[in-house]
Amino acid sequence: MAKRIEVECKYEEGPLGRYIIVPKGLYNVVPDTTTISGVDPTGQHTIYRGYTIADIGEHASFYEAAHLFLYGHLPCEDELREIKRKIDTYRAQVPEKVFDALKLAAKTHPMYYGSYAVTLLGQYYAPEWRFDDDFLYEHALRLIAAIPVVFTAGWHLAHNGTFIRPDPNLDHAKDALRMIIGRMPSDLEARAFESSLVLYMDHGFNASTFTVRVIASTLSDMYSAIAGGIGALKGPLHGGANEKAMQMLLEAKEQAEKAGKPLEEYIEEYLLQKLARKEKIMGFGHRVYKIHDPRTDVAAKFIKQLPDGEFWLKVLKKAEEVMWREKKLPANIDFYTGVLYYQLGIPIPMYTPIFAMGRIVGWTSHYIEQVKNNKIIRPTEKYVGPTGLKYVPLEERCKK
Ligand code: ACO
Repeated sequence: MAKRIEVECKYEEGPLGRYIIVPKGLYNVVPDTTTISGVDPTGQHTIYRGYTIADIGEHASFYEAAHLFLYGHLPCEDELREIKRKIDTYRAQVPEKVFDALKLAAKTHPMYYGSYAVTLLGQYYAPEWRFDDDFLYEHALRLIAAIPVVFTAGWHLAHNGTFIRPDPNLDHAKDALRMIIGRMPSDLEARAFESSLVLYMDHGFNASTFTVRVIASTLSDMYSAIAGGIGALKGPLHGGANEKAMQMLLEAKEQAEKAGKPLEEYIEEYLLQKLARKEKIMGFGHRVYKIHDPRTDVAAKFIKQLPDGEFWLKVLKKAEEVMWREKKLPANIDFYTGVLYYQLGIPIPMYTPIFAMGRIVGWTSHYIEQVKNNKIIRPTEKYVGPTGLKYVPLEERCKK
């Protein structure tokens, strides 16, 4: 069984009626229902439209999972052909002006390229926004297709002054990985990468998805909502954790080498020092998974097959053992994907953009669900600042 989380909710009379005072961080607060994904009744699995996240993560292709999220069921052959055709075609149709604009971007964190390019895509693809089904699904697919293209183009343009064009004849995940690493990936590498995208596709009302739903609830367009989601995902407490987790493991590896100790032993000493300094260990803890994140099991199967897999798994397992003993915190998916992407030779700043390449499927599905049964998301604050102050003219203010 999952660990129970008890939080308190209070009621108070406020100026607008009876207020519900919910826990800070909206812990265990349920603002709406969804049929897209969520925790199953045992609290141990996240369900993707009825299937466990591990089942879909291990077995489904990117296209199958994207179809499941957007349309609610795994595709039949003709549906699969159609979603693949659209995503592959749209990947190669990013307007040239978006690349021109990315050429002007500063050399900075690539998450910026995503939010910047997505708002441009909105301007070119859909200057007038509509809410009919054909239009919404069309733009969801265009966004899913374009996200890897704009992130990788932004990254390569900033670093090399040139970029790698998408190839519509390759599968989406394989092409995305090829554009990132600049070489054709093996089938195993492509499948490991594809599986990680599927594992990242959705997770209930996580912070970035909730951001997307808040923006959708104002009936703003999908592109603006996705730009907001990318901003929320960038933070180190959310998607940014996969980069930080790998940086931490590489720091530990360097220290272990200097100390002449194997990393799978030294990691304990390293983590204990960090915990003693009250530092957060990135890649551990989760708002929903308090005992185990099932996505890590799927990622581990691929890590094992990639270079130095046995070594990295020993390090990960040791770190998990220490963190469970010391803090009762499980590793989350970001701890594992950090290593997986390192094995694939991906530059660390691209790890969070990769999270977005998967999560775009969940974001667009949630946008559609929100606007189809909409109520603006607008909580009420409890004002605790002063009242009754009177405006004082500038010349009389701050007199010594
Ligand atoms: N390292 C050290 N201590 C931690 C960590 C951690 N990674 N995570 C939680 N804790 C501590 C908290 O500080 C808290 O201590 P306190 O009670 O003394 O204040 C206690 O453990 C319980 O924390 P929770 O209430 O379980 O955490 P919460 O649900 O508020 O936050 C979060 C979850 C943000 C993921 C947190 O665990 C964290 O910051 N982890 C590190 C960042 C990370 O890996 N993010 C990725 C999330 S998964 C994803 O986005 C795919």
